[in-house]
Amino acid sequence: MLGKIFFIFLKFVRSSKIITLFLWKIKIDIYLHDTFWDLTTLVIKKELKQIKKKNRYLDMGCGQFAILGQFFKMNNTNAEVLSVDIYDKFVENSINNSILNKNKIEIKKSNLFSNVTEKFDLITFNPPYVPLTKKDKDIEFPNIRYSESEGIKTTKDFLINAKKFLTTEGEILLGINTFYVPKSICIKLIADLEYSIEKITKMNFNTSIVFRIKVI
Ligand SMILES: C[S@@+](CC[C@H](N)C(=O)[O-])C[C@H]1O[C@@H](n2cnc3c(N)ncnc32)[C@H](O)[C@@H]1O
Repeated sequence: MLGKIFFIFLKFVRSSKIITLFLWKIKIDIYLHDTFWDLTTLVIKKELKQIKKKNRYLDMGCGQFAILGQFFKMNNTNAEVLSVDIYDKFVENSINNSILNKNKIEIKKSNLFSNVTEKFDLITFNPPYVPLTKKDKDIEFPNIRYSESEGIKTTKDFLINAKKFLTTEGEILLGINTFYVPKSICIKLIADLEYSIEKITKMNFNTSIVFRIKVI
């Protein structure tokens, strides 16, 4: 019962323009689906606020507003920010939303790193991590949520390729909801792909965690 009430509350807050403005300082006009951010986005935000002196930031899988890219730019006005997503419609809406909010960031379509050429001091990713076996209905943008097998296919592909796009001291913030993918599976994947975990960030009443990782 309590879980159901929490879920209804969560659905309401993460679809609210007013709460998004309050939490993120981002105005929303047009949206393409009714999740404006999620539990993982919040934990990435918590860690992102601590980060300074990163001049080039890549917001991987930026979603319909490039909410993380815009948030980072607001707090690091001199940084160069690139936000990318696999869906054309998200790229277009994010461009329009960044203009509405007067945040000068670059936004383009890319399937992971397919259209990325530069190296970055910081990359964040809140990937799709819900195992396909849990798919109960068709949605318009399935890559928001679902990733094959155990929910880690996209994360694995991302981590394999990300190394080539990091500067020497470059770091990744990888957010995963442990309700869907157990922490132990994430830790094993990160270690197997030869990254070291510098820090793990959590929040109260939130099953998502963020791994701050570096190439070994
Ligand atoms: C969970 S949503 C996160 C959206 C937003 N960054 C946030 O934190 O609220 C995952 C995003 O990754 C994008 N995505 C999934 N697979 C991708 C891929 N192969 N390349 C680029 N983006 C991808 C999805 O379209 C979606 O916008």
